[in-house]
Amino acid sequence: MCTCLAVVLAAGEGTRMKSRLPKVLHPIGHLPMVAHVVRAARAAGADRIAVVVGPDHAGVDTVVARHAPSASVHVQQERRGTAHAVLAARAALEEGCDDLVVIFGDTPFVSAGTVSRMRARLVEGAAVVVGGMVPADPTGYGRLIVENGQLRAIREHKDASEAERAIRLCNGGIMALRGDRALALLEAIGCDNAQGEFYLTDAVAIANAEGARVEAIEIDAEEVFGINDRLQLAEAERLFQDRRRVAAMAGGATLLSPETVFFAYDTELGRDVTIGQNVVFGPGVAVDDGVEIRPFCHIEGARIRSGAVVGPFARLRPGAELGSGVHVGNFCEIKNAVLDEGAKVNHLTYIGDAHVGARTNVGAGTITCNYDGVHKHHTEIGANAFIGSNTALVAPVTVGDGAYIASGSVITDDVEAGALALGRARQVVKPGWAEAKSPKRA
Ligand code: UD1
Ligand code: MG
Repeated sequence: MCTCLAVVLAAGEGTRMKSRLPKVLHPIGHLPMVAHVVRAARAAGADRIAVVVGPDHAGVDTVVARHAPSASVHVQQERRGTAHAVLAARAALEEGCDDLVVIFGDTPFVSAGTVSRMRARLVEGAAVVVGGMVPADPTGYGRLIVENGQLRAIREHKDASEAERAIRLCNGGIMALRGDRALALLEAIGCDNAQGEFYLTDAVAIANAEGARVEAIEIDAEEVFGINDRLQLAEAERLFQDRRRVAAMAGGATLLSPETVFFAYDTELGRDVTIGQNVVFGPGVAVDDGVEIRPFCHIEGARIRSGAVVGPFARLRPGAELGSGVHVGNFCEIKNAVLDEGAKVNHLTYIGDAHVGARTNVGAGTITCNYDGVHKHHTEIGANAFIGSNTALVAPVTVGDGAYIASGSVITDDVEAGALALGRARQVVKPGWAEAKSPKRA
């Protein structure tokens, strides 16, 4: 088994984002871009991950730790080029590894498959492997100079001759190096170039001078799409959503209007799920087989069991758990609440911090009054209960199995199983009142 160290470079200034947030923390599909890269490195079998950040990149370490708890974070104090950045993780490099993989933190679509493919070339005898691509516009990229299958050098755009600039194959930014050669190669890199930077790409020419095998593999340009500004961030989000829609349909979901459905990085869909138009998934959603999500729903942090029907116009917030066959209809909001099998909450209702038993029907306009201005309280509703329309359930409160609540009630006391509770003013009818008040109207 080969050991692999992945170094993720994320010390870029990101000034074109015009943001207080470090560039690599901007999300795509609700996941910070650096976390996309870290997860790909893990999926490709990296045993250790080292992330290089800038001195003012607060918060990156917390995000990295969430997705790769054993990753180390290193600070590059001065931004002096990509090779200099890798050497900021010297402590990790000195521990040794079979394969070193360098990935940029602002290219979120790098796939585990590509990293594995590059590592395989190292096993076959290459000392350095570079991920090449053919972008629509090569301006700004390093050009790959290949002769008879050997990658001779990478020439940065600013240092390249006219003839070299005509080369279409460019450096995508991923590089794999043999672990036993990596540190020596990196230390041999100088900064005599147009930008006065220590270029990681110079490792190629140095390895060539040592007679080592250096190769380029071609990868899809989309995979190394880099993000420098908000326009590219939006483009990356578009690419991400397109991929997720295709994956959802390939997995057996029907999307009635795919371009209007938006997923998070971790959305899980079963088979025969139907998703209507204009549905947005936030993070943490799992949808089981046969669920129907009708148009205009916003769903995050929710579990939806088989055969449930949600929407149109429903909002499921974190902690919503819908059992099988549950119906949640229009203008209903469910938060931190478990609805057991077959429960129905169909119109204009808020259920928060609650448990609703199986087959219970919650009438239109019902509200769980869960917040007293300071604390949240729980509402417990049993199975087969009937909550009349426009009921206010003032938590903490319990309604037993099979109980009935008269519509318009404000329920402040517990209701035992099988009881009818009325908590509203008695109706008063005054015959002839209207004529007496205003004779002309009668
Ligand atoms: C780099 C490559 C170029 C390639 C292109 C692909 C080099 C010298 N050039 O150029 O061949 O075609 O990417 O997108 O490697 N970074 C640091 N510290 C630094 C400098 C950079 O952490 O001191 C990080 C940045 O955050 C970024 C990555 O390294 O994630 C690449 O740096 P960037 O300045 O974007 O390099 P390019 O000029 O785009
Ligand atoms: Mg760049």
